[in-house]
Order: sequence, then structure tokens, then C-alpha cells
Amino acid sequence: MTQSFQKVRALTGMKDVLPEFGAQWEALEDTVRVWLAAYGYRNMRTPVLEHTRLFTRGIGEVTDIVEKEMYSFTDALNDEHLTMRPEFTAGMVRASIEHNMLYDRPHRVYTMGPVFRHEKPQRGRYRQFHQIDVEALGFAGPDVDAELIIMLGRLWKMLGLTDIRLELNSLGQADERAAHRNALIQYLEQHTAVLDEEAKRRMHTNPLRVLDTKNPAMQEMANNAPRLFDFLGAESLAHFDAVCTRLQDAGIEYRLNPRLVRGLDYYNLTVFEWVTDRLGAQGTVCGGGRYDGLIELLGGKPAPAVGFAIGMERLLDLCSQSSDGAAPPECDIYMIHQGDEASRRAAAIAETLRDAGLRVIVHAGSAGFKSQFKRADASGAKAAVILGADELATESASIKWLRAEVADQQPQQQTVPLVRLITELKLKV
Ligand code: HAM
Repeated sequence: MTQSFQKVRALTGMKDVLPEFGAQWEALEDTVRVWLAAYGYRNMRTPVLEHTRLFTRGIGEVTDIVEKEMYSFTDALNDEHLTMRPEFTAGMVRASIEHNMLYDRPHRVYTMGPVFRHEKPQRGRYRQFHQIDVEALGFAGPDVDAELIIMLGRLWKMLGLTDIRLELNSLGQADERAAHRNALIQYLEQHTAVLDEEAKRRMHTNPLRVLDTKNPAMQEMANNAPRLFDFLGAESLAHFDAVCTRLQDAGIEYRLNPRLVRGLDYYNLTVFEWVTDRLGAQGTVCGGGRYDGLIELLGGKPAPAVGFAIGMERLLDLCSQSSDGAAPPECDIYMIHQGDEASRRAAAIAETLRDAGLRVIVHAGSAGFKSQFKRADASGAKAAVILGADELATESASIKWLRAEVADQQPQQQTVPLVRLITELKLKV
């Protein structure tokens, strides 16, 4: 007796995309390619696995991602410490250094794909999720910061999204952050009575993150803490002002959020997030900012850079709220046949229809007409093409229009010579 095999399920927080949703993913990917090409962004792709030290150094030791969310392991074959990418930026920068991309000119690049973070799953938060990652490598000015944000405004329009707003902040430069950090640590030391355990642990290593707390008991303390924005010097303020002016020029509304610090350590100057109230607790659809120090930190010749990443699951969730939810058809034409000879002819005719640009499914196997028509209906095809003994005998095929909008104007079923089949179908499909 064979032992029953226990079903294997997907890992917690890692979702399958089933065929009824595949078309939405592809439609988004298609839109994204058109959108990015309009701004001169070129596709590049980096490996899922990288050396762990790329992320610990790039993202920062004292961040949630590096402290507790990375899928890391030691490769038993050669003892290397490896990590499944928790984001794209570090890998994109690594590749740009490794291939001397920034040697003679800056680059506008993008990539899309899965990233991995061991977080507690909930709606909009997964352990494998997908990002559209866009990086402008080698650009220093506020014009590119603004261009990236304006670009995002265009994408929301292309997707028909309205309930999405922009939060903006500046994190200044390293010396400004250091001065603020000292003031903040002093402030936190004066308020240890209200700090929770995590805050106490972090107040000397990453005091800025302490202010990012969700703990209600710490809100008042966080609200009154010294603000980084008040420590910015003239140059940082001028950069920020220039970004704001360009956003105003483009009619993009924003809210200055001095508490916006982002969860990765590489940022300086401009940081931003696009958020919505329509996705529950995980309402951040896109986050990004300037990271002028990262290329040098990862061993490259110093060069400025700025970029962002969009969470694709969150964006698709938002898109599906503003669409009618109807699944697109699987094909234009569903071919129905009866008998072995008709089945073989159907396969050959289908190839000629595909040559003419039609999307065709040929019924697989044999079945009665009734059940084949049922399948044809379920496929969403505009027409069924029927090949039975009568049609074979007269070198013809029957067309049955299946959708109301086409059937209205047509006789329900018509028989046409095979030589005219493509012309007849192309008239209405
Ligand atoms: P991030 O804010 O960590 O930034 O992630 C960007 C976006 O990914 C978030 O706004 C969110 O939409 C989505 N996201 C994050 N975590 C999850 C999750 N567990 N499940 C589903 N979606 C999630 C970065 O990753 C930076 N590398 C962005 C960047 C590029 N900065 C400069 N260049």
C-alpha cells in the first residue's frame, strides 16, 4: 500500500498568483515599462542572492531589516554567508560599481521582481513581495529628486488612482544628522521613564527610529522631541526648497512630515513616501529618497544617487479597488471539434488564425458539443469556431458569436467557407 503524501503548502507570507490575477500583474508590468521608457529609464536585473555583508553594510546594522528580517544562511558548499535580497538598492549599487557603470556618465535604471523580508504577515505585508525599483545613479541635483516624484504622479494617473498622497522630508547631511542625534539622545535620556524596552535598547544606537514608535504611551514624548529639520543648514534647506518648488510647478501636492525617517540607513536630504488610507495598516505604496553616501560606502568612487521602490502587491490591491474586477478573456476564439479528423484540422486551422494575430484555444481531448460550448463560454472568447462532420465535408466552419455585443449584430451562428474564415472573424474580433 502506498503511504499517503502529506500536502505541501506554500510558505507563510509567500503568495501564489493564480491565473485569474496573472493578467493584472502583466498589465501593471506593461504599464510600468511604458511609463519608465517615457523618462529614459533602462531595465537591469541583479541576482536574488547576494553576500550578506552587502546588506548589513548598505542598509545598516541597526535597522529592522538587518536585525530581524533577512533570510540569511551559510552556503554549506563554500561557507559563504548569503542573503535573499530584502530590497534592490544595495544590489543595484553593487552592480553599478562592479561594472564601472558610473565611470563616464550617470544612469537611469529600473528593475522589478521579488524581495524577501521575514515580517509578520498581514494584508499588504508579505515575506516574499515584489517591488518596482527605480534608481537614478550619479545625479546630484534636486531636479532629479523632483523628476522621480513627478514621474510617480504620472503613474498614479495612468493607473487611475486618486486616493494617494505624498509625504516629504529632508534628512540633511551627515554632520547635521550627527548634531541632531546628540540633541535627541540627550532628550531621550531625560525621558527614560516613558521609553519602552525597544526604545531604551535603541536610543544610543538608532535614536531616530525611537521616534518612529507606534506605542501610544510614547507619542507625546516623540511629538516634542528635537526635529531633524530644525538642524538643517543653508545648503540642505536650499536643496529641499528646490525640490518643493519643482513639485509646485508640476502641481503635485505634498505634506512636509518631519517625522518621516524611512527604515533604511542610507538616506540623506530628500526622503518621501506615497501613502493611502485605502489599504488598512499597510498604506505605504512607495518609498524612496536620496542616498548620496551609499556608492562610496559600498566601495565605489563617490557618486550621488536617488531612487524609490513601489510595493507591487499594495499597488495592485489599490488598482483592483478602482476597477470593475472583471477577468479578461483567455482567448478571442475557442475551437470546438468532433471526431479525430476534425480535431487534427482544428489544430492546423488554429495555427493559421494565430498567424493572423488571433488568440486561439483549441478544445483539448474529445467531448460532446454541449460541454465544449460550456468551456468556450467560460473562456470569455468572443466566438466559437465549430468543426464537425458537416463542416469537414463542405470545407467550411461554423462561427457562433458568444458575447452579447457581437451576437446582437450577427446571426447567432453562421457557416463560412474555410478560405473566408479569417476575414469573417477579423471583421468582428
Ligand atoms: P522600503 O520602504 O523598505 O524601501 O520598501 C518600498 C516599498 O515596498 C514599501 O513602500 C511597500 O510598498 C513595499 N513593502 C515593503 N515591505 C513590504 C512587505 N513586507 N510586504 C509587501 N510590501 C512591502 C526600499 O526598499 C528602498 N530600497 C527604496 C529605495 C530605492 N530607496 C532608494 N531607492
